[in-house]
Amino acid sequence: MPNEESNPVEAGLENLLEQARQAAHHSYSPYSGFRVGAALRLTNGIVVTGTNVENVSYGLTICAERSALVAAVSQYGPGIRIEAVAVANLNGAASPPCGACRQMLSEFVVPEAPVAFPAADGVRTMTFSAMLPLAFEMKLK
Ligand code: THU
Repeated sequence: MPNEESNPVEAGLENLLEQARQAAHHSYSPYSGFRVGAALRLTNGIVVTGTNVENVSYGLTICAERSALVAAVSQYGPGIRIEAVAVANLNGAASPPCGACRQMLSEFVVPEAPVAFPAADGVRTMTFSAMLPLAFEMKLK
């Protein structure tokens, strides 16, 4: 199936990955030591980055992906659409976006958007719809 999953990284995502790596340098992660960065490319070409910000109460921690998302909405409004996502960490470990971040991103990411993230075998890229095939939606009857 074309575009479902590919390796190596698609052209154009290298730059986004580098911006995610740069964002990871701002990580506030004294509890886990896991420094994550995320970069979101909006459909107007603007890139917004974020990093993980931890808290001593642990559960209040916000991941890099959601950090980038709330920054993007805060700066550019609720009408944003995300056409590409890149995640990086400075720990040389695998870090696909967690389930909470996938769900949050789902309301703003176009389904065919590539998501590039560190996997066990290097950077892996797959479409957002492959990464989260069944997001929760509220359909009241
Ligand atoms: N983290 C992220 O920033 N993104 C993810 O997708 C998974 C985990 C952060 C949260 C926490 O600060 C640290 O990584 C360890 O879980």
